[in-house]
Amino acid sequence: MSVLLSVIYLIATVTFIVGLKRLGHPDTAKSGNTIAAVGMVIAIVGTIFIHDLEVAPIIYILIGAAIVIGSIIGYLIAIKVEMTKMPELVSLFNGFGGASAALIGLVEFSKSIEDSLQAITVISAIIIGAITFSGSLIAWGKLNGSLKSVVKIPQYNLINNLFFIGIITLAVFMIATGNHSPLFTYGVLAAGLVYGILFVLPIGGADMPVVISLLNSLTGIAAAITGILYDNMVMLVGGILVGSAGIILTVAMCKAMNRTLGSVIFGAFGATAAIEGSNKELGTIKSTTASDAAIMMNYATNVIIVPGYGLAVAQAQHVIHELEELLTKKGVNVKYAVHPVAGRMPGHMNVLLAESNVDYGLLIEMDDINPQFTNADVVLVVGANDVVNPAAHNDPSSPIYGMPILDVENAKHIVVNKRSMNAGYAGIQNELFYNSKTSMLFGDAKAALTDLVSELKNM
Ligand code: TAP
Repeated sequence: MSVLLSVIYLIATVTFIVGLKRLGHPDTAKSGNTIAAVGMVIAIVGTIFIHDLEVAPIIYILIGAAIVIGSIIGYLIAIKVEMTKMPELVSLFNGFGGASAALIGLVEFSKSIEDSLQAITVISAIIIGAITFSGSLIAWGKLNGSLKSVVKIPQYNLINNLFFIGIITLAVFMIATGNHSPLFTYGVLAAGLVYGILFVLPIGGADMPVVISLLNSLTGIAAAITGILYDNMVMLVGGILVGSAGIILTVAMCKAMNRTLGSVIFGAFGATAAIEGSNKELGTIKSTTASDAAIMMNYATNVIIVPGYGLAVAQAQHVIHELEELLTKKGVNVKYAVHPVAGRMPGHMNVLLAESNVDYGLLIEMDDINPQFTNADVVLVVGANDVVNPAAHNDPSSPIYGMPILDVENAKHIVVNKRSMNAGYAGIQNELFYNSKTSMLFGDAKAALTDLVSELKNM
């Protein structure tokens, strides 16, 4: 590798690390994204133009055409996608990353394999890439609703684990015997594809974000392996960063949803995700009006707003910010309580509220806000359900039992805005709505908050 290319790769690597660091905070996330993207462009241009190989002009034309077509498609998809559909898009992109790694592995296998280490690398790229590709496509289908049900083959845990052991055995056989015949090569690819499907198919909807994050991490690992294959430092570092960031996110989400990583990997995962719509009567509910809720908030000292998925659906982030500013002007202390899995993707509420320029200092994480609910005069829950469901504390038979929640029931008054008594993502009833301190403000979040704002303005 030339000195110039090494320097380019070093610069690109630094931009990835700086970019990733800056992605950790909404104020710096946009510039972090740009910095890492610039690094990626530098790395791609360097890789294409600075090398010692004899390359026919047609190859440059093909690479250029692929980049242009891919960039146009990627750009169009990214600007069109709604925030609530982002996990689907991430899942699809993971799948493409996995497919690239598997294809690179296939191409390399058709060339001469020099030693066992190279064989291990190539086979790993094929297997991990194939699992990521098919698993991500199944995850994408589940998230967009085209694969609605949780498909559970009898004894799926056992079958999946035996299948996985079978793939490893086949890979070890190929490496030990040096057998790289097309039959075995395509056999291991097919086995990886089937395992990806078997792995994701039985997993319940509520657990999909963890799976997507895990698949994201696998994409990074597959990219790192191809980096080893091509002795390409920037590909290796980029892959390791994606792989490790994905694992950290997976562990954080497991914690937020009270799952263990072991149960994700070894298959017991999703077993509790069966959605049980319990119809048992929990008591009576009390509904309220925008006018009464506005009076309550107008005379409060401390108000905590709990945003949830419904806020994103209603696109009510701007009006909630207006409400918060109005209350603040009236001398009320307003904070937002952000649950780590509120919404449908990690950081969903942070991104949504950042879009309407809510001061990031007002977004308080679950562990810090929970002790403050006892001092809250009013908690306004907007389009959130599972993340405030006390069944997580009180009902051992509940699918969300053990999941950390926002302790809103400790507040003096609770106003819940949603459209109906329908369940949230986990498909279970919420006893908070029947609490004597709770008033239900029914309606679409945007309309209800707009009414609240106009009532407050008139006071
Ligand atoms: P949910 O439990 O899904 O509840 C959202 C509530 O919003 C629903 O009960 C719905 O009730 C209401 N809603 C929907 N549209 C609305 C609108 N236009 N206006 C007002 N309300 C509306 O949401 P959550 O509390 O944010 O919890 C998130 C759930 O998703 C958790 O179970 C979590 O595990 C899961 N999950 C999270 C992620 C990540 S990483 N964030 C990813 C996937 C899944 P109505 O229909 O009655 O209006």
